[in-house]
Amino acid sequence: MIKIVSDFTPLMTRRSLIASLCLAANSDLTVDLLPQSLATPLGINGAWFDAQRKRQQLRIAQGSAEHIAYYLLQSKSFSSEPAIDPTQAAHQKLPCPSTRSSDFLAATPKDPRHKLIRNLYDNLNWPLDRCYAHTLRFLEAKELNQAPLEPLYQERGLSSDTSPESLTALSTLNLPAKRVLLAGPGLDLTRREKFTDDIPLKSHQLDHLKSLYTQVDAIDIRPEVIAHLHATPHDLTTQILPAKYDLIVATNLFVYLNEAELLCALTGLTRSLNPGAKLVHNDTRFAAKVFGEALDIPVEKYQPVSLGGRKWDRLVIHQKL
Ligand SMILES: C[S@@+](CC[C@H](N)C(=O)[O-])C[C@H]1O[C@@H](n2cnc3c(N)ncnc32)[C@H](O)[C@@H]1O
Repeated sequence: MIKIVSDFTPLMTRRSLIASLCLAANSDLTVDLLPQSLATPLGINGAWFDAQRKRQQLRIAQGSAEHIAYYLLQSKSFSSEPAIDPTQAAHQKLPCPSTRSSDFLAATPKDPRHKLIRNLYDNLNWPLDRCYAHTLRFLEAKELNQAPLEPLYQERGLSSDTSPESLTALSTLNLPAKRVLLAGPGLDLTRREKFTDDIPLKSHQLDHLKSLYTQVDAIDIRPEVIAHLHATPHDLTTQILPAKYDLIVATNLFVYLNEAELLCALTGLTRSLNPGAKLVHNDTRFAAKVFGEALDIPVEKYQPVSLGGRKWDRLVIHQKL
């Protein structure tokens, strides 16, 4: 079981605790469930899964550090100091802001977002300046050094920020389904740019799917998403779900997975699809096509999504044979 659940227990409501107990029905993904001709060259074996569980713990911690740093720099809920734009801070190599830091540490959280962030901080055991330095390193690589995005995202922390475009992409779908799974709903907890404390603390995708379908389950790896949305704790790269679905949606998630992780995630998700069911994501990597074919969920189509007239993204729709 992943450690985040017990770390976050103080924040859990009765409903989220019940959701988390569903994890008991989750089981571990094992090497024998993977297509060997793909798993072996990628180095996936028993030791890989042990290392992967540790890697995910670190990435959850790094994602928490990013949320904390973005909040520390921009929120007005705990400090009267002016907000600092994170990318500017990286450009100017600003030190961790001392007054904002002491205000953050002294404040008693009142609103739900502040409570979630404080809880992340209390469970992380990283001082604020470490959260800040970690986040600035990522911003430097992405914004200043323009590091190639694919490897950067496959190594970065796992955060729960959502993009409004992901809802636009989803609203172009019109797929019949009885039982739907949203993998990685996100939460809009913080934002790198233009964060304000009144951004609704929710998953737009989850609300949207719930307005269309009667049964929608959500799974996620991050503690605040699990707690706030009553999602089931689940790591797509190391676990499999007991339930079967007619539609699984996982956008802006596979981008965080390297090829070995992607193979594991697709193997697990495939087992949760009814025959004829669809898996929708937005990772146009060739590997997703190759793995889909090997797992009997070939890509059915690539659906372009336009945003304000310009092409933005492409949904990848697989169908289980
Ligand atoms: C960037 S957010 C995307 C949110 C939303 N789906 C969207 O498209 O805007 C990625 C979400 O996937 C979750 N996630 C990342 N890796 C995961 C994994 N291995 N298993 C389950 N959830 C994961 C994160 O915690 C987060 O909620």
